[in-house]
Amino acid sequence: MTHKELLARAMAARAHAYAPYSRFAVGAALLTRSGKVFTGCNVENACYNLGICAERVAVASAVAAGEREFDMIAVAAGGTRKISPCGACRQVLAEFGPQLKLVLGDGHGRSKLVGLPRLLPMAFSLRPPLPKRRVRPPGAAE
Ligand code: THU
Repeated sequence: MTHKELLARAMAARAHAYAPYSRFAVGAALLTRSGKVFTGCNVENACYNLGICAERVAVASAVAAGEREFDMIAVAAGGTRKISPCGACRQVLAEFGPQLKLVLGDGHGRSKLVGLPRLLPMAFSLRPPLPKRRVRPPGAAE
């Protein structure tokens, strides 16, 4: 799946946004390493602080379906400004590893690709960093 296709899925999910308070609709589409796509939209609440962002809805949906390995997330908003995820979403995305690529889109299908560590350097983690993957030729000594 290309980043443009994933952004189109995010834009489609945006149509379901429930944002009567901010009137700022957001859609997200999360691509798993197994090739599945989980979408989300923001869901606001009359008790304002209970609203949830599109990105976290997509992550929760994927995790609830048994997926934890993610390759890319596209986020789409309206207007001409490309959206940039809030700090809370950055931390939630970082939970599942720094390899995630983000496609940050505006309402016209224009986008920018960034890596998660650029958006959240030195992310908080309780887990030690994964060891660097070493490529050893078959049959080579340990
Ligand atoms: N929002 C998202 O869904 N994702 C973001 O990356 C930024 C903000 C939502 C939260 C709230 O419902 C609305 O946009 C305005 O802040």
